[in-house]
Amino acid sequence: MDREALRMVCSPEFWRMGVLWTLSLLYSYLLLFLRGRTDTPRRRRPRPHAGGGRPICVVTGATSGLGKAAAAALAREGYHVVLAGRSTQLLSETAREIRRQQPYACLEEFQIDLSSYKSIKKFETALKQWLWDSDLKPSIQLLINNAGMLAKSQRVTEDGHDETMQTNYIGPFILTNILLPLLKNSPIPSRVVNLTSFTHRCVSEIDVSEEELRGVKFGQCLVRGTYPLASIYEYTKWLLTRVW
Ligand SMILES: NC(=O)c1ccc[n+]([C@@H]2O[C@H](COP(=O)([O-])OP(=O)(O)OC[C@H]3O[C@@H](n4cnc5c(N)ncnc54)[C@H](OP(=O)(O)O)[C@@H]3O)[C@@H](O)[C@H]2O)c1
Repeated sequence: MDREALRMVCSPEFWRMGVLWTLSLLYSYLLLFLRGRTDTPRRRRPRPHAGGGRPICVVTGATSGLGKAAAAALAREGYHVVLAGRSTQLLSETAREIRRQQPYACLEEFQIDLSSYKSIKKFETALKQWLWDSDLKPSIQLLINNAGMLAKSQRVTEDGHDETMQTNYIGPFILTNILLPLLKNSPIPSRVVNLTSFTHRCVSEIDVSEEELRGVKFGQCLVRGTYPLASIYEYTKWLLTRVW
């Protein structure tokens, strides 16, 4: 384990978050257990849109964890899935893995780094070009803002923001606004899903200033040299539930 990771694991912020994560998991399992006893799972096939084609969904952070699982599940449900991720190699591996289970899955791979304005713009251009080249209606039906991270220490992006803040909130905010015309152009109701976290409930200060959004405020209040990783993460997740 590197020094940064060790410092992170030893910080009270990490343990506070760890306890909350455990509690939220137990709560989710309890809900699943209770629902499992009363509900019968219903699978809804997505409706093809007016052009008759498959609905299109964009999943960010599709190369691991929840994003990868969601991408596979949506492909199974009949969506044309746009896998959006940072690494081209991981994107290829993810697509290969999904196709091993579902040989006819409709998948596209696009590179995006949500901590970079330039990369988001490149993604927009590439996505629109693909829709244009494929003769698909210029619309998307579902955007899943799944990509997220928890930085071990303070890092400033090329755009001058705190990395966690830009990846978890500013990037998804910009991406959603950029894709809004395509979402609105959908002939069937479209939807945006934001992956938040149980821990956003720890945010008590509801003031939203430019300094907070850029992560500058958190950088200024480094406690005894410790990066307030949990506070920033929780704040980004809280913003995802409110500020759009
Ligand atoms: N797992 C949980 O218990 C839990 C609980 C609450 C909330 N969440 C939220 O759910 C989401 C998914 O969580 P997870 O556990 O599945 O996380 P994960 O396995 O770490 O996956 C995160 C994904 O986000 C991508 N990502 C990170 N930084 C990025 C950037 N700058 N640009 C583009 N993509 C980036 C990662 O790509 P790389 O592979 O390139 O790193 C990865 O594919 C996150 O938003 C997380 O905060 C998770």
